[in-house]
Amino acid sequence: MADIRAEVARRRTFAIISHPDAGKTTLTEKLLLYGGAIQLAGSVTARKNQSSSASDWMELERKRGISVSSTVLQFDYENYRINLLDTPGHKDFSEDTYRVLTAVDAAVMVIDAGKGIESQTRKLFEVCRLRGIPILTFMNKLDRPTRDLLELMDDIESTLQIHAYPINWPMGTGERFKGVYDRMSKEAHLFERTARGAYRAPVQVAGIGDPAVKDAIDADSYHHFVEQLDLLAHAGPTFDRADAAKGGTTPVFFGSAVNNFGVELLLKALLEHAPAPTPRTTKSGAVIAPTDEKFSAFVFKIQGNMDPKHRDRVSFVRVVSGRFSRDLPVVHTRTGKTYRLANAHKIFGREREIVEEAYAGDVVGLVGYSDFGIGDTLAQDPGAAFDEIPTFSPECFAQMYNPNPSKYKPFAKGLEQMIREGVVRSLRLKEMGDSKSTLLAAVGPLQFEVAQFRMQSEYGVESKLEPTSWTLARWIGPKTPAGAVEAVGLPVKCARAQDEDGREMILFPTEWSLQYLAERHPEIELLRLPPKSSAAKA
Ligand code: G4P
Repeated sequence: MADIRAEVARRRTFAIISHPDAGKTTLTEKLLLYGGAIQLAGSVTARKNQSSSASDWMELERKRGISVSSTVLQFDYENYRINLLDTPGHKDFSEDTYRVLTAVDAAVMVIDAGKGIESQTRKLFEVCRLRGIPILTFMNKLDRPTRDLLELMDDIESTLQIHAYPINWPMGTGERFKGVYDRMSKEAHLFERTARGAYRAPVQVAGIGDPAVKDAIDADSYHHFVEQLDLLAHAGPTFDRADAAKGGTTPVFFGSAVNNFGVELLLKALLEHAPAPTPRTTKSGAVIAPTDEKFSAFVFKIQGNMDPKHRDRVSFVRVVSGRFSRDLPVVHTRTGKTYRLANAHKIFGREREIVEEAYAGDVVGLVGYSDFGIGDTLAQDPGAAFDEIPTFSPECFAQMYNPNPSKYKPFAKGLEQMIREGVVRSLRLKEMGDSKSTLLAAVGPLQFEVAQFRMQSEYGVESKLEPTSWTLARWIGPKTPAGAVEAVGLPVKCARAQDEDGREMILFPTEWSLQYLAERHPEIELLRLPPKSSAAKA
């Protein structure tokens, strides 16, 4: 049997965060190419374009051309086992996107060097920051005209409030992009354009003074590059490894994913800067080490209806400690029931492979098990319950109602199941009285569609949605003096609500109204994530 310490030490589990079109899919594909998981690049993009069946689990996905279900890719590189968790973005941005980030130990932030930090990257970054995980930055599309490079560094620092330390620096950009210079090893990696980056790019490595480097770059670019290196050396801080490990500094790498350039450097850096699976703390404060002999894991995602014929339901768990083996008896800590985990799979689209063994950092898809909910713990020790999945502040709100009174029961049952699974959340408006509709809240609009689709296909009920004008929500924090919210009078079109756990919230129609309240009434503590205790005063 494999040694648990060695298995944990060689695991790296991370996700890629980016704004649509920055190059996440391309980079994923190229990482797989370098990891030897695919021979020829192209397959992931093909999936995205639906020419393969891997992402059409749901009819909804096929209709809309999106990947509702995030995929976990596992591959080996230099004796490391890498788990790359997909963060659904684009149209399918949802609470799942955030939840995936609770299951990783590091993140790669892909930025289009022609654009800089964009909105979705910022949102995802915030979640990574809350967890204090290391974030590596990949500045992509250097083969195209970019923004000023030093300005891009400033953009990261000022927009995200994090130190940016370029580990390498490009030699020229756009048409003149000729490679990157590694500031740590003091070597230049020369870039050769290949046909759409279908194969590993040939890389020539040389010292900065090497004639090969000078020959490769035009005099202007060389001069500019040396000047910038000088500036970085004098003005920039030195690389603070400990700060990077806490997520306070992001090491920055330049490249061009579509051309395979800079990808291998990033992959190697990932092994160095991303940690092996880290310990997690249970609700009662016990620290569980990944090398602990006893198995524990938490559910971070549930995918319902993956195979409509079987009413298939997969709970994705992140292993926290111990060794997972087939038929392992574990306790579902919320209900106290014991389950034998016979149906554990590695899942990639429709392809499934039975998992015989897994360790901390790995993700396993458990098929069936309708009792499991998001955030639940499965462990050999019934006392080891984790609290890893926070609620994220919703940005989409809609009233849902049942147009067919005769279907009252299945409608209520279906909706309750969607809420229990975390597909959507339900809020109670303070002023609502006994309205027949339920206020649903979500991080992305797709969550509503998924709920409607599943209620129809699994419970046979129709549902109607009525949009509302709120776009933001904040929890009222415990520092808020009693009666403060009543005393101030909220900006127009704001409303007060309670979440499923009775925690007080304010709903806002615009960012402006939120800022207005925050600036005028700093005594009201407005939180992006719900306060730990439900005793928030209002
Ligand atoms: P996403 O998953 O973050 O949304 O981005 P994706 O990888 O799909 O990339 C978005 C577009 O950017 C794609 O072009 C892709 O080829 C291109 N791209 C990715 N990396 C680079 C790069 O290093 N340089 C350049 N010049 N382009 C890059 P597309 O036109 O949407 O698709 P395709 O027809 O090129 O595949």
